[in-house]
Amino acid sequence: MYSIKINKVAESRLPQVDLNNIPFGRVFTDHMFTADYINGEWTNLEIVPVKDFSIHPGNLTLHYAQSIFEGMKAAANPDGVPLLLRPEMHVERLNRSADRMCMPAVPEAMFLEAIHSLVGLEKDWIPSSEGSSLYIRPFMFATDEFVGVAVSETYKFVILTLPVGPYYDKPVSLKADTEYVRAAPGGVGDAKTAGNYAASLYPAKKAKAEGYDQVLWLDGKEFKYIQEVGTMNIFFVIDGTVVTPAFNGAILHGITRNSIIQILRDEGHTVEEREISIDEVIKAHQDGNLSEVFGTGTAAVVSPVHRIGYQGENYDIDVDSFTIAPFAKQYISQLRRGQIEDTRGWIVKVEEPVLA
Ligand code: COI
Repeated sequence: MYSIKINKVAESRLPQVDLNNIPFGRVFTDHMFTADYINGEWTNLEIVPVKDFSIHPGNLTLHYAQSIFEGMKAAANPDGVPLLLRPEMHVERLNRSADRMCMPAVPEAMFLEAIHSLVGLEKDWIPSSEGSSLYIRPFMFATDEFVGVAVSETYKFVILTLPVGPYYDKPVSLKADTEYVRAAPGGVGDAKTAGNYAASLYPAKKAKAEGYDQVLWLDGKEFKYIQEVGTMNIFFVIDGTVVTPAFNGAILHGITRNSIIQILRDEGHTVEEREISIDEVIKAHQDGNLSEVFGTGTAAVVSPVHRIGYQGENYDIDVDSFTIAPFAKQYISQLRRGQIEDTRGWIVKVEEPVLA
């Protein structure tokens, strides 16, 4: 058991926040968890009021982006107990990202104790309205003061919590990009690292200027095989079969993706993880066989896609006729809130804060 020091705010900001009317990502709870990696070990584990960090201008992260993160959510069950969905998968993925970026692993017990303590402390911040939850953002960044390109020897691990509404509040349109790439095999596409998101901004800005919400990334060699959306993994329903791109080193190992695959298979759907080309998707659309397109992610949950743009043409999909995506969205939302039985052992109740 780790010893986490807790320093509470004198006065909560919660009374000033309308929990049922919040944009994604801008409202932070009162406290955060922080820990420092120094001399090969995690130390200074504490929960403190959310405040600025003081950062040296030579901080390695600012120059070379040695930085990783996770995205998780907590929701409250009908008795008001906060619930987590598969938290151990998030620490596993965080540590996979850490390994790729030459960063230290976070021990699973430290990660889980920090999450339980912080979410337990902030449980009154969990919004109750449909589609809202407490977003949990664990992240780690290098803290050495050095402008040579090198692996940092010191790091900070932080967990922020934010009450959030839906990331996408309406169906999205995607531009299948044939000019820019997000990731190539051998790169860092399957690590949840800051630079992947920075690199996506310019193509996303161009796609937005053309009227699309997001980019649908294609492979970097032939611009042929579909990868993901950057904020979410992607699913297609073709001839009644659910298809999602298989991992190939350039696709993020989505935890919601994994859950949705299992939920749909248990429901009797055929779900294929395989290579899928943009040509196959366009042909299925032209033949009338593309019945649904949707993205999955912690933030995005299950988000329907109403349009795919490719090579100057738009292919519209009738989201009102979707059945699989709404089912998946409702199922995972109800599971998260303890409104349906957890038959897979995915739900973890948040224990009371571990006060030290
Ligand atoms: C998440 O779904 O939690 C993510 O990390 C995506 C993020 C870019 C909002």
